[in-house]
Amino acid sequence: MESPFIEVAQADAIAPGKFIRVEVDRTPYLIARVDERYYAVEDNCSHEDYPLSYGCLDGARIKCSLHGSRFDLETGQPADEPADTPIRTYRVELADGRLWLDPSGPLNQR
Ligand code: FES
Repeated sequence: MESPFIEVAQADAIAPGKFIRVEVDRTPYLIARVDERYYAVEDNCSHEDYPLSYGCLDGARIKCSLHGSRFDLETGQPADEPADTPIRTYRVELADGRLWLDPSGPLNQR
């Protein structure tokens, strides 16, 4: 079976505490780095379909810049109102200094 992982970036392109936006098949994802861990989530707030990449990281959460909800990068769960629905999270792996995203399906359920 073919691997579902797609190379999306050089790992050193993301400094600790930063994220980048990537597109796979016209779907945007946010790849974040917290210390030495990498996370992949959809680049879309579950509250009003707004790009999360306009926001900022708050530890291991991404904060939406429109109404301020923060989402856990691991679980996708919102920590604050007004969002009440998780964002989708995806597998991302580091190999040979590159980051590989599995866009075939989210890790979590909405
Ligand atoms: S659009 Fe993100 S919190 Fe409202």
